[in-house]
Amino acid sequence: MPNFSFLLCLIIATSFGIVVNGSESEAKIYVIKSGNTTLKLTNFGARIISLVIPDKNGKPTDIVLGYDCVKDYLSDTTYFGAIVGRVANRIGGAQFTLNGSHYKLDANEKQNMLHGGRKGFSQVIWEAKGWKADKEDLPVSFSYTSRDGEEGFPGNLQVKVNYFLEPNNLRVEMQARALNKSTPVNLAQHTYWNLGGHNSGDILSDEVQIFAYNFTPVKDQLIPTGEILPVNGTPYDFLKSHKIGSQINGPNGYDINYAIHRPMTKEKNQSSGCACGLDEEDWLKLAAVVYSNKTGIKMKISTSAPGLQFYTANHLKNVKGKGGYVYQAHDGYCFETQGFPDSVNHPNFPSQIVKPGEIYMHDTLYEFEVK
Ligand SMILES: *[C@@H]1O[C@H](CO)[C@@H](O)[C@H](O)[C@H]1NC(C)=O
Ligand SMILES: *[C@@H]1O[C@H](CO)[C@@H](O)[C@H](O)[C@H]1NC(C)=O
Ligand SMILES: *[C@@H]1O[C@H](CO)[C@@H](O)[C@H](O)[C@H]1NC(C)=O
Ligand SMILES: *[C@@H]1O[C@H](CO)[C@@H](O)[C@H](O)[C@H]1NC(C)=O
Ligand SMILES: *[C@@H]1O[C@H](CO)[C@@H](O)[C@H](O)[C@H]1NC(C)=O
Repeated sequence: MPNFSFLLCLIIATSFGIVVNGSESEAKIYVIKSGNTTLKLTNFGARIISLVIPDKNGKPTDIVLGYDCVKDYLSDTTYFGAIVGRVANRIGGAQFTLNGSHYKLDANEKQNMLHGGRKGFSQVIWEAKGWKADKEDLPVSFSYTSRDGEEGFPGNLQVKVNYFLEPNNLRVEMQARALNKSTPVNLAQHTYWNLGGHNSGDILSDEVQIFAYNFTPVKDQLIPTGEILPVNGTPYDFLKSHKIGSQINGPNGYDINYAIHRPMTKEKNQSSGCACGLDEEDWLKLAAVVYSNKTGIKMKISTSAPGLQFYTANHLKNVKGKGGYVYQAHDGYCFETQGFPDSVNHPNFPSQIVKPGEIYMHDTLYEFEVK
């Protein structure tokens, strides 16, 4: 029966209206298929709502945590599957100064801002393009225009996210263009994965490798101290693949940013938005590999971003998800490729400032293998 109600909800109760900038828009579901892999998205928060892929026995397995109905995402506080922004992660004190101007932001987590504020990019309707119901392998492109002053951020910003699916990989391209003021931009894809299946319980026995020699330690309320320290000798060291649960009690669950590789040194072509002069290998760097023994599914994550937030879903508690399954702490993990947290207040972190006319680009590739 739970499966039945899931289908009912996806097919019949797929859409709902929401007022955006004075006019009503609709939240919808978009399905892309490639080989035996099926991706479901919604334009509410440009979210991934499911990714179904065959496991080692050929059994279709949904490896993304989420809800039965798109409407459930309206009251979501987990950021399940969302594109978060304008600035992902935390901004300490919900404020920053840029070129002499001081900006007060929406403080939605104690006195700090988390993931762009109460009405960040995860809580708005995006416009969908490129998708056709009868052409199931086309990519989906979501776009959104964020207004000057939205959640406290300066300037108008045009944002676009493209999802491309192939049988064994998913590519997410994130772009943003500052229209009339310099602004920080840091987008992140916030899917909670569980390679054992979204309803398979905790991920503590899954194996993870993170290609980072350094991390950015945090103080109270998960705000970075500003240091960039070696992982060596700490429970944050995932340079060699090992079970997530082996040292998870030290940090009380992982919720930490890794410095994946040095930020881009080659010049991007800011006017055309293309990464001209960069081949794929320079642009995307392998950031993490995850493996579940339950299904034999392995996921490799490569990204152009300088940071990776590794989060072991420490705060999930009695969240009623798909098919009636109730998610608890550590029932999934997020690998949020992004800039470093609170960069606007740490000049030693890679800059997230995008000037008018410039284009922010962030690509992430998720490759799947089954063994
Ligand atoms: C899809 O699954 C079928 C049945 O398990 C298999 O024969 C086929 O090779 C798969 N196709 C791809 C593209 O993986
Ligand atoms: C920013 O640009 C938009 C159009 O791109 C324009 O409507 C708006 O007035 C501009 N605002 C400022 C402060 O320049
Ligand atoms: C700061 O202001 C100066 C002078 O107007 C300008 O040249 C520079 O581009 C500005 N920097 C940013 C990040 O907007
Ligand atoms: C950037 O792209 C534009 C448009 O494609 C092109 O005209 C220009 O020559 C490029 N600039 C560089 C430095 O490659
Ligand atoms: C998977 O886990 C089981 C039980 O812990 C173990 O017996 C088996 O060797 C593991 N397989 C792999 C491929 O790691």
